[in-house]
Amino acid sequence: MKILIIGARGLLGSFLYSKLKKKFKIYRSSRYKLKNFFQLDLNNPHSIKKILESYSFDAIINTSGLVDVEKCNRNMNLAKKFNSQTVKKLSMVLNEIKQKPHLIHFSTDQVYNNKNPKKKIKKIMLKLQTIIVNQNIWEN
Ligand SMILES: NC(=O)c1ccc[n+]([C@@H]2O[C@H](COP(=O)([O-])OP(=O)(O)OC[C@H]3O[C@@H](n4cnc5c(N)ncnc54)[C@H](OP(=O)(O)O)[C@@H]3O)[C@@H](O)[C@H]2O)c1
Repeated sequence: MKILIIGARGLLGSFLYSKLKKKFKIYRSSRYKLKNFFQLDLNNPHSIKKILESYSFDAIINTSGLVDVEKCNRNMNLAKKFNSQTVKKLSMVLNEIKQKPHLIHFSTDQVYNNKNPKKKIKKIMLKLQTIIVNQNIWEN
């Protein structure tokens, strides 16, 4: 099984790589030109399409994202660009190409209720959603 991990240099992506490489053929990507990584920027659909059309991946694990909460709250456009537009662009490319790999997308595990992040509040209501993952990934 050929799996592409997008965001493989990150905390989650590098962890998944270290676990999954024992069982599967894993490919990694980064926005930067690095040895043993595909250069892929989810904000650039052309770079996504080129790689996905050239390699028939069975699955794509998207662990890309902008995880700096302060930065996201200060700049909603940036947050949208890196946390939602990216997966939209990836899905659009997947709809266009012949191969249909499974797409596993990791979003956040935290949902903040504050509707106006600029408004200072003393107590932030925080809802945590539990992400249930296949135990085997973590155990092996
Ligand atoms: N860490 C956790 O425990 C955890 C738990 C649950 C959910 N999550 C979610 O998983 C995602 C990743 O978290 P993380 O902690 O691993 O973050 P991280 O360490 O900051 O890694 C994110 C990676 O995304 C890549 N990236 C950013 N923009 C990109 C773009 N436009 N195109 C392609 N790649 C891009 C970066 O790779 P390059 O710099 O190499 O391009 C970076 O290494 C987030 O959505 C986070 O909310 C994380």
